[in-house]
Amino acid sequence: MTRPDAQPERQILDLNAFSGATGAMAPDVAALVERRRRAFGAGSVLFYDEPLRILRAEGATIHASDGRAYLDFYNNVPSVGHCHPKVVEAVRAQIGSFNTHSRYLFDVAHDYAEKLLATFPAALSNVVLTCTGSESNDLALRLARKASGAEGIIVTRAAYHGNTATVTEVSPSSYKTGAPPRHVRTVPPPDPALFGNDVAQGFADAVKAEIAALKADGIGFAGLLVDTIFSSDGVYADPPGFLKTAVEVVRAAGGLFIADEVQPGFGRTGAGMWGFSRHGLVPDIVTMGKPMGNGYPIAGLVTRPEILDAFCADFGYFNTFAGSPAACAAGLAVLEAIEEDDLIANAARVGRHLTARLTRLQARAPITAVRGAGLYLGIEFGTEKGPAPDLAKRLINGLRDHGILIGAAGRYGNVLKIRPPLCVTTAHADLLVDALEELLV
Ligand SMILES: Cc1ncc(COP(=O)(O)O)c(C=O)c1O
Repeated sequence: MTRPDAQPERQILDLNAFSGATGAMAPDVAALVERRRRAFGAGSVLFYDEPLRILRAEGATIHASDGRAYLDFYNNVPSVGHCHPKVVEAVRAQIGSFNTHSRYLFDVAHDYAEKLLATFPAALSNVVLTCTGSESNDLALRLARKASGAEGIIVTRAAYHGNTATVTEVSPSSYKTGAPPRHVRTVPPPDPALFGNDVAQGFADAVKAEIAALKADGIGFAGLLVDTIFSSDGVYADPPGFLKTAVEVVRAAGGLFIADEVQPGFGRTGAGMWGFSRHGLVPDIVTMGKPMGNGYPIAGLVTRPEILDAFCADFGYFNTFAGSPAACAAGLAVLEAIEEDDLIANAARVGRHLTARLTRLQARAPITAVRGAGLYLGIEFGTEKGPAPDLAKRLINGLRDHGILIGAAGRYGNVLKIRPPLCVTTAHADLLVDALEELLV
């Protein structure tokens, strides 16, 4: 087990971030970095010491301006594959036919909504389409507060749920200084290193204690919001079912359970469409985004009609671009591609292969844990001295030299996050582990 107090906490956007030094860069890359700095200022965030200038991509491959083809193991946006022909054609055809906001009737909205809702338990029968995962979580918080009549929200310690003013409050990993406000309480991630063998009870007890504290402070409890693969916390998936005990505690206290599926959703865990289904529970609200349009901006939430009805009695909800015909066409093509390309089974198969090889590597390297589900895996690095974020950073840059793109996660930035497009093959997985072996052993 690693000693957590040995390292400073890392803010989510600082992980593998470009430092700003353009010294040794290729001239074309340095010129673009400079233009970016002038136009986007302090808001610009880039990956890598030498940022990658992308020219084109397909499947799991990105072609860059240095003439190299990189294997993309860190991209949850082009989830069914970069430039998937089905999605490209669906968006092209829809934009070429008509595109507008959602206050007209058009068939593709209904074809999409019905196909999407069919992937959820029957109780979750209403969908609201939005533009981003942040907007979905923002709306989810409003629904939960209306339904519970209370303000308090519980999230995990290194959670990230998005960037609106309200959602930043429930995203502790966004804070460079300060901390979330009083109505937001945090619990540790469901880590066996913290909770021992009974992660379900340990995590539920932590939630229960924070509910009691919120009530004691007169704030009240609206709900528990978690990413069901706990990605920014460092990827925690096991044992399947552990969330159920915490959700029972939440409901007994009058709160709602919001499952953030922005990361694990759309088949990535290899065990059905949604991360929560591995836990054998039905959330009150599910939010989604990122992989939903394979790069076309579309996001949303699903919930029970009575929760939406109560909110809509107080407020109207409309967003100009959400649920546009082109967005729905992209979303529909993604759902079809997941089925036709058998991507959930592929995520399970390649994920199993990767996990087996990484677990063998663990015996010969400073790896403290290999965990996750399907094609969402975390490799945690550390020694008896504590977490090893510097090693994780060296590996990220070393893998890039081997032509493989990967990122970091976790409170200390010491977890390598494996999250490729769902079309990767076991041969791709072997290239990743071979490269890691060469760098580590
Ligand atoms: C778990 C989770 N929720 C929500 C979001 C926010 O989504 P968006 O960037 O589309 O607003 C993210 C983004 O990374 C995320 O990882």
